[in-house]
Amino acid sequence: MTQHAINMDHQWLPFTGNRQFRQDPRVVVAAEGLNFTTHDGQQILDGISSLWCVTAGHNRKPINEAIKKQLDTLDYATAFQVSNDKAFQAATMIADLAPGDLNKVLFCSSGSEAADTALKVALAYHRARGEGHRNIFIGREKGYHGVNFGGMSVGGLPANRKVYGAQLLPRVDHMRFIHDPVDNAYIHNQEPVWKEDPLLELENRILALHDPSNVAAIMVEPVAGSAGWYLPPQGYLKRLREICDMHGILLIFDEVITGFGRMGTNFAADYYGVVPDMLNFAKGVTNGVIPLGGVICRDFLYEGLMNAGAPEHVVEFFHGYTYSGHPVACATAVATLNLFKEEDLFARSAAMAPLLGDAMHAALKGLPNVIGIRTLGLAGAVELAPMAGAPGKRAFNIFLDCYHHGVLVRAAGDNLVLCPAFTVEKAQIEQMVGTLADSIRRHA
Ligand SMILES: Cc1ncc(COP(=O)(O)O)c(C=O)c1O
Repeated sequence: MTQHAINMDHQWLPFTGNRQFRQDPRVVVAAEGLNFTTHDGQQILDGISSLWCVTAGHNRKPINEAIKKQLDTLDYATAFQVSNDKAFQAATMIADLAPGDLNKVLFCSSGSEAADTALKVALAYHRARGEGHRNIFIGREKGYHGVNFGGMSVGGLPANRKVYGAQLLPRVDHMRFIHDPVDNAYIHNQEPVWKEDPLLELENRILALHDPSNVAAIMVEPVAGSAGWYLPPQGYLKRLREICDMHGILLIFDEVITGFGRMGTNFAADYYGVVPDMLNFAKGVTNGVIPLGGVICRDFLYEGLMNAGAPEHVVEFFHGYTYSGHPVACATAVATLNLFKEEDLFARSAAMAPLLGDAMHAALKGLPNVIGIRTLGLAGAVELAPMAGAPGKRAFNIFLDCYHHGVLVRAAGDNLVLCPAFTVEKAQIEQMVGTLADSIRRHA
C-alpha cells in the first residue's frame, strides 16, 4: 500500500495537527510485538506502548483468541437491567487486583468517562448521606483526566481548557503542580524529596478558602502522565490521604496510565502505599485492544448509595453507558489480566524500569537543550528548553524526527516521553534511547 492509496479527506484526527499530518502522514497498518509496519512499509518501534495501552505488546494471541471466541458466543447485550457473565468475571478480577476494599467496579469505555463517572459517584454519595452541599472538586495544575467536561474541568492542562471558558464546571479549584525544576530537575529511579511541603497550599489556602466541609473530592493522577511523567514528592500521596480523611473529602486516583503494572505493582496506589476511595482505570486493562474503562469504588460508597432509603426497584445511581461492561471488552480484559499473571508482566515491568531509567540518564543528560530527566517505573521523560516563542515545537520536531528514524516517542509540551510495553527488551530500550539522543543532538 502506498500513502496515495489512502483517502485522508474525511478523518478529523484527534489531538493531532491535521494540516501538518496531511503533509507528512504517519499511518500504521500492522503491528507485532513492539513493532509497527507503516503504510509505506517502514518499521517503527513503539516506544510508548501506543500511549500507555499496549503493555503486553501488540498482537497477543491469547487476547485475540478470547475476542474471537466471545464474538461467537455473546457479541453484545444491553447493560441496563440485564448484564453478562464476562462483565462480572472482569469486575471480580479487577477487584481482586485492587488494594484495600476497592471492590465495586463501575464500567465505562474510556478514561474520560471514568473521570466523569467518579466525580458523579462523589456527588451522589455525599448527597445520599445528607451532605449535598459538598460539591467542590479539587484537581491539580497540569492534571489530565480526559476530555469530557468533568475531567477537563478538574484537569489542569491549559491548552485543553482555554477555549471552553465558562462552560467548565464552576466549583473547581486546583492544587499547585508537582514539579521542582531547581532541586529535582533530574529524578533517577527514585522518589523526589522536596525541601518544602507542596500540600501546605492545599491546607492553608485552598481548603481554607472554600471550607473543607464543601469539598466533595480531590482527584489526582498519582504520577502526572500526560503532562510528561512528573513524579510526586516523597510522602505526598500519603499526606494527601491524611488531609482527605481529616475533612471527609473523597480521594480519587486517576490510574488510567499508572494502573495495571506501569510502576511494577498492580496499581500506583500499591506502589505508594495509599488506598484511594475511587480508582479510575482504562487503557492497559485490555492491552488497549478493545476500549474499556472503569472506576473501582470502596465498599462504603456502594453501600452509601444502596442504603439511601429508596425502594428496591428504583435505580440507586442514575448513571451508566450503553457499553458499560460490554461483553467483548470484558472478555478482552479477562484475557489480558490472565496474560499479565501468566507472564508475570508487572514483575517484568519492575525489572525493566531501572534499565530504561539508567539508559535515559546515561544517554540524554548533558545533551543540548536538556533541562531535566525524570524516571521511575517503566517510564521516563526528558525535558527540553522551549524554543523562544514556540513552546512545544522543539519536542514536536524531535518526535517527528524519531518517527522518521524508526521510533515512536511521545511529545508532551517540551518533554519527550518513553513508556514501552512491559515486554520490552534491553536492545529495544537502547534503540529507543539512542534514537532519541541522536535526534536531540540533531536539533541542537
Ligand atoms: C490519567 C488519564 N486520565 C484520563 C485519560 C483519558 O482517557 P481516554 O483518552 O481513554 O478518554 C487519560 C488519557 O491519556 C489519562 O492519562
